[in-house]
Amino acid sequence: MKLLLIGFGTVGQGLAELLLEKKEALAKQYNFKYTVVGINDMLKGSIYDAKGIDLAKALKTVKSDKKLTGGPEKALEMIKKAKADVMLEATYTDIKTGEPATSHIKEALKKGMHVITTNKGPLALNYKTLSNIARKNKAKFLYEGTVMSGSPLINLIRETLAGSEIKEIKGILNGTTNYILTRMEEGLSYEEALKKAQELGYAEAVPDADVLGWDALAKVTILANSVFGAELKPFDNPCEGITKITADDIKKAKANGKRFKLIGHIWKEGKKVKASVSPQQVELTHPLAGVMGATNALTIATDTVKEVTIVGPGAGRRETGYSMLNDLLHLNACKK
Ligand code: HSE
Repeated sequence: MKLLLIGFGTVGQGLAELLLEKKEALAKQYNFKYTVVGINDMLKGSIYDAKGIDLAKALKTVKSDKKLTGGPEKALEMIKKAKADVMLEATYTDIKTGEPATSHIKEALKKGMHVITTNKGPLALNYKTLSNIARKNKAKFLYEGTVMSGSPLINLIRETLAGSEIKEIKGILNGTTNYILTRMEEGLSYEEALKKAQELGYAEAVPDADVLGWDALAKVTILANSVFGAELKPFDNPCEGITKITADDIKKAKANGKRFKLIGHIWKEGKKVKASVSPQQVELTHPLAGVMGATNALTIATDTVKEVTIVGPGAGRRETGYSMLNDLLHLNACKK
């Protein structure tokens, strides 16, 4: 499989590390063989070779703060030119415009290139349009890493719960805020906890998107549109983040046997699909209260097996990189 990597920050590098680390095992176990033909990143430079680039060398270059060279500067130009089977899109998320990722994805799909993305903007804003372009061009459009990073939520709903009607989804959808709330309870200030979340690679490029609830909002919108068939836009839904919660509020909640969690919720009212994001005080005995750090947890209510809960990482370099590897293996299996 010829791969084109657009966006080579935390997530793109996380994927590259896994591709290198597991190269032999993936070939042996899944007959998955790959060549990376190009990498383009607006900060880290660009490299392209139709015969394949040296991925380990490219990774070493960006880790030593040097620039990649030898490829088109503009991502769109690279996508137009590249002869690749799959584009892996991991540029930064812009939940208000969905760009530049939406244009990248459209361009690749129109060429019949499969697309794997972890970028929440295009999914939250343009799910239907992009899925239609994919279908028309017989290309696959996969996005496991957009919700709960590498925890297999999309897979779980698409494959494992196939044939079930999904009635409601509720839980913790943002790693950064859950991490901040956890560390504040341990005594760290809001600023210290946020800085740690950034260092650990959990926070968005602009962390406002996490703490104001926008990242969770993008995720509930993605689920509302892709799982429930709604056509919601992110900012149509009520959304409140964690910025108003003080260390004192956290202490008081604990004294009352409760804990703050930022809860994302998608449900149906008659035929209408509703979604929201809000901080809620959950009882310490509630299963969600025990979900700490950057871990996410979602309970999926179905008409078949009642409730299924998935708990797992919601952010992180290796974890989100893994979501793309998982989608690649799904594509590999579809080819057969
Ligand atoms: N900033 C996001 C989070 C990354 O903290 O959950 C994963 O989408």
